[in-house]
Amino acid sequence: MTSVNKKTVEDIQVKGKKVLVRCDFNVPFKDGKIADDKRIKGALKTIEYLKNNGAKVILCSHMGRPKGEFKPEFSLAPVAVRLSELLGCEVKMAKDVVGEDAMAITANLQEGEVALIENVRFHKEETKNDPEFAKKLASMAEIFVNDAFGTAHRAHASTEGVSHYLPSVCGYLIQKEISIMGAALEEPKRPFVAILGGAKVSDKIGVINNLIEKVDTLIIGGGMAYTFFKALGHSIGSSICEEDKLDLAKEILDKARAKNVNFLLPVDNVIAREYKEDSEYMSIYSDSIPDGWMGLDIGEKTQELYSKTLKGAGTVVWNGPMGVSEWEHFASGTRSVAKAIAETDAISIIGGGDSAAAVETLGYADKMTHISTGGGASLEFLEGLELPGIACLDEK
Ligand code: 3PG
Repeated sequence: MTSVNKKTVEDIQVKGKKVLVRCDFNVPFKDGKIADDKRIKGALKTIEYLKNNGAKVILCSHMGRPKGEFKPEFSLAPVAVRLSELLGCEVKMAKDVVGEDAMAITANLQEGEVALIENVRFHKEETKNDPEFAKKLASMAEIFVNDAFGTAHRAHASTEGVSHYLPSVCGYLIQKEISIMGAALEEPKRPFVAILGGAKVSDKIGVINNLIEKVDTLIIGGGMAYTFFKALGHSIGSSICEEDKLDLAKEILDKARAKNVNFLLPVDNVIAREYKEDSEYMSIYSDSIPDGWMGLDIGEKTQELYSKTLKGAGTVVWNGPMGVSEWEHFASGTRSVAKAIAETDAISIIGGGDSAAAVETLGYADKMTHISTGGGASLEFLEGLELPGIACLDEK
């Protein structure tokens, strides 16, 4: 379990100091333009605090997976432009990561100035967490601030390695992520309801095992429901199923029973002839999916049942879609869950990735207590795993 008792930017003196801030500026692009700047906006609070308190701010991040080579399409230069607009000041963009340009720009920074060095993944040493590379990064600064929650599950040179050479604290984004999610897991307002979806049981097994110890109700949707159905002896037609996880599914069902966890599976499904957006489809009870048909969404009765259960919750954690939510005919399960969570008074935590995207697209984002900025990272946090980019930071 990741400790939530980490020093923050407010626990150290930053005036006049060079501060290396690891952000997650891994933003999506469309037609050469930043398609969504949420991750950039998410880093502003920490950057502004440092700037306003006289730090010399050196930002770094990865972008995509350029595999250790300079590739212009993975440059952070467009992020520097957007950041300058948002901060209302120049962000000096270095042409390299730990080369001459980065060293010169960062060495000459004045108090309150901000620089961004190039994509740390232009060096293969970054993902290998190479100590020499980490040392070079650290040599630019006197303090390390990690605010890249989305990358905190990676033990890379700029997320973990640098912490061996500098006093290391977290920024506001990481602090917010771990305090809200940590409180929900440790002292949830009850009833505590977790709703998990997605295609595979194997992707969510760690989360299920951790949450089953803590929740009152565990709701299952998405493709992984069919592995549970098969384990229960139901006919599932040609629905997605992990044959090698049937015993595991049975164990989970037994564990839920033993722990008195209310374990909810869909009671009806929207099924389709083919895995295609425009396939013929219909609704059917979950225990009788005919041969030649596959389940692609939860049905209406299930939506009602899940909405009712979510309505009475004290805390809700949601990760993973209920169906093939990118296709209109199979999106209503995911939509109804998003709506139900938006309408509860519960503390609501949305794991990153597809569920976060659904909540945002549907316009429910401001109704949620917290939407995590990390996909893989939030999943690992909910699994109760220690995130290396947070574990390495100084304790209070
Ligand atoms: C993400 O987008 O989930 C993070 O930026 C991490 O990216 P990665 O999976 O390439 O490490």
